[in-house]
Amino acid sequence: MRGSWRRLALVAATAVSLATSAAHGRDASDTAIVVSGTSAVMGVASCGGTTCHGRQTPTGAVVRQDEIRIWQDSTSVTGMHARAFRVLSEPRSQAIAGRLGIGSATSAPECLGCHATPAERYAPEFHREEGVTCEACHGAAERWLASHAAVRGTHADNIRHGLIPLDRPRARAENCLDCHYGGGGNQFVTHRIMAAGHPRIGFELELFTALQQHHNVDADYRQRKQAPSGIKVWSVGQAVALERQLTLFASPRGQSGAFPEFYFYDCRSCHRAISDEPGWKPQRTTNPLRPVAVGTPVFNDENLLMLAAAVRVAAPDLAARFDTDARAFHAAIGQGHEPARVAAAKLRVTAGALTARFEAASFNRAETFAMMQAVLTGPATRTYTDYQGSAQAVMAADTLLASLESERQVPAGARAAIKPDLDRAYATVRDPQHFQPTDVAASLARVADALRRYQ
Ligand code: HEC
Ligand code: HEC
Ligand code: HEC
Ligand code: HEC
Repeated sequence: MRGSWRRLALVAATAVSLATSAAHGRDASDTAIVVSGTSAVMGVASCGGTTCHGRQTPTGAVVRQDEIRIWQDSTSVTGMHARAFRVLSEPRSQAIAGRLGIGSATSAPECLGCHATPAERYAPEFHREEGVTCEACHGAAERWLASHAAVRGTHADNIRHGLIPLDRPRARAENCLDCHYGGGGNQFVTHRIMAAGHPRIGFELELFTALQQHHNVDADYRQRKQAPSGIKVWSVGQAVALERQLTLFASPRGQSGAFPEFYFYDCRSCHRAISDEPGWKPQRTTNPLRPVAVGTPVFNDENLLMLAAAVRVAAPDLAARFDTDARAFHAAIGQGHEPARVAAAKLRVTAGALTARFEAASFNRAETFAMMQAVLTGPATRTYTDYQGSAQAVMAADTLLASLESERQVPAGARAAIKPDLDRAYATVRDPQHFQPTDVAASLARVADALRRYQ
């Protein structure tokens, strides 16, 4: 029943199931590492009181209070994090660990960095079997546990005590990317781990936020916190993802060894069918944003491509600089480690400038429509020559459409009316082996046509 985001995205709009799930096993914890000076992870039990987040039904109070039920719901995507550790005890994980020769997946540091709750210090009540817990995202709670429930406590107080401000797109992106792209230490899925059977990791900040959502954005929430529009979360998410890619790529992670770390490249630039038959034609099509010679692996530019479209709408004065730096980076990869690192650093500065601009942007209705059109039609679609960029474009269509609806920039029901076209677009990127760039472009154009009725 567990599946990839491609299938999950299609069910994202369906109602959260109300089924309750079994209580967690609370035995065996051999994870306590004690380092003083840092805030400890307290464990899910510390969030679980019925006056806290452990209710079975939502309340009309400040927060829903049934967050644990949603996080545990094994019938829904919202329950994925609670079962992240359990996945490690399943045969597929054991086989991956076996091929890598790292012992059991349930105790291998190579797996626990993302399938459990990483921290420098744990309270005795914490159990790593709980998987990716509340504190993996909201921050180790030792210092804010008391203050965040205090009657006169404020969001600012909580942040001062170590709560991660996930309402801010950049902070949220940095947090999710640790596991949904890669971070420090053991938070990295090397190509070796993938070759041993780990699925490819796909991510889009706003879509994935919606898929695991367990909070209501109501008047009270807006008063206490930032409630960024979907398009803002999407665009900041793209820029921060690029910053993260380039940081890791330029680090020893990407630059040590005779071969580059293949994780950073588009998987299909190496993995595709070839033939010696006379009638066979090479599949690599030229890509206007990518000066890469045929026969060379391509850096995974899924976020670069989205940003190339976004920059024209939201920061047109930076478009030329972005294109120049992106092209120079692609070209430099073929020239060796040092040129690649220098070009990566330059592009990262530009990506940082985009992050700042998108964070400050207000994204009115016209801009959101313009962004939709930039991603769905026009020059950008000629750059969706490879699988990962195309899949990212389809997720963008989904997310931007949802943003138009939630910001009431299209009539209620518009999204439902366009959904069949969106589903067809998802279908074109479901199977990486049989994906055709022209089908993706055609399906995105149909979404754009359907959308034009509301413009
Ligand atoms: C950088 C973080 C990271 C590391 C390290 C990592 N994983 Fe994962 N793993 C993920 C993410 C994220 C997913 C979900 C991928 C998706 O669907 O987008 C996942 C999915 C999986 C799945 C598929 C689960 C399913 O629901 O179908 C298995 C199995 C798995 N990981 C096993 C492992 C094993 C075994 C290791 C250690 C060798 C490991 N992972 C290391 C992040 C990580
Ligand atoms: C995968 C990351 C992640 C996990 C795991 C997670 N959350 Fe969240 N949570 C978020 C994000 C993102 C938001 C929305 C931004 C915000 O308000 O901070 C949120 C919002 C909330 C809110 C709404 C806060 C408000 O001000 O209205 C509560 C309450 C909450 N989470 C509690 C929990 C609890 C309890 C758990 C564990 C059972 C949990 N979360 C697990 C990411 C996560
Ligand atoms: C500590 C690591 C970690 C962090 C932090 C984290 N995730 Fe995850 N996430 C995972 C793992 C591992 C899985 C896969 C679990 C599985 O397949 O059982 C996953 C799965 C998901 C899924 C289901 C996707 C799918 O293809 O099945 C969504 C949606 C998701 N995460 C969203 C988020 C968001 C949004 C954030 C940030 C607010 C976030 N995650 C932060 C580790 C993490
Ligand atoms: C630079 C070229 C290159 C890139 C890019 C690349 N790979 Fe690989 N991949 C290889 C090579 C070489 C092997 C080893 C083939 C062998 O063992 O016979 C391999 C093996 C694999 C295998 C095992 C295949 C098998 O049948 O044993 C998987 C799975 C895999 N890669 C997934 C990925 C994913 C996912 C990505 C993208 C994140 C990726 N690869 C990117 C070159 C690449």
